Amino acid sequence: MRITLMGPPGSGKGTQAQRLVEKYQVPQISTGDLLRAAVAAGTPLGQQAQAIMARGELVPDDLVIGIIRERLAEPDAERGFILDGFPRTVNQAKALDELLTDLDRPLQAAILLEVDEEAIVQRISGRRVCERCGAVYNIYTNPPAKDGICDVCGGPLVQRPDDNEVTVRQRLKVYREQTAPVLDYYRDQGKLQVVPGEGDVDAIFAALCAVIDALED
Ligand code: AP5
Repeated sequence: MRITLMGPPGSGKGTQAQRLVEKYQVPQISTGDLLRAAVAAGTPLGQQAQAIMARGELVPDDLVIGIIRERLAEPDAERGFILDGFPRTVNQAKALDELLTDLDRPLQAAILLEVDEEAIVQRISGRRVCERCGAVYNIYTNPPAKDGICDVCGGPLVQRPDDNEVTVRQRLKVYREQTAPVLDYYRDQGKLQVVPGEGDVDAIFAALCAVIDALED
């Protein structure tokens, strides 16, 4: 399976990707997670990305394309991959096509999780993420059994620094201006699939799996 999950911030890409990893045994490759790891480790890339992410803007294309190039070269990506949050600009989409053509493993589909903007602001304000294993919760719709503690690994749950209303509105603006054109790019290639992203998480997962199972290699 070689897919990218698209959709505005908070549309459920990470939530669904974690389930897809379990079912299809291919890695989730999230540029947001990779950038946050670089910030936490204090690498030069992380230092460059930190302020940009806090403002809700996009990290420069050459940096994220470099991250993806390195990550796709790792052995576990040979079986396939679920890209999450990449590509986010038409430039990134073109670079990905070139990279995958060189590897002779073209993208099969870009799957859009479609969610209304107001639902997103509420979802994101309730999101909590495990600092240790990355499991995603929501204090309103999917709380952990014990407040502030991850059900999976017992790690502490934290709120992302960019998960406040002002930054979310900025991230949505960036999405409309810079990422929505990527949807047209894939639509023109006949690779765009749309799955409604509101409602029951299990039902959305089933709809995603139906799309994936129908993909041709
Ligand atoms: P990134 O980490 O990719 O953030 P994002 O795209 O804004 O997406 P999110 O992680 O916020 O949301 P999600 O769709 O994964 O939703 P989730 O499943 O968590 O990027 C962060 C920053 O990094 C960017 O702003 C940018 O600066 C930089 N960056 C990253 N990639 C880049 C790139 N390619 N180029 C340049 N810069 C880049 O769900 C959200 C919440 O909703 C959770 O609480 C969840 O429990 C809940 N939820 C999920 N599904 C449902 C449902 N069906 N019903 C109710 N609640 C639900």
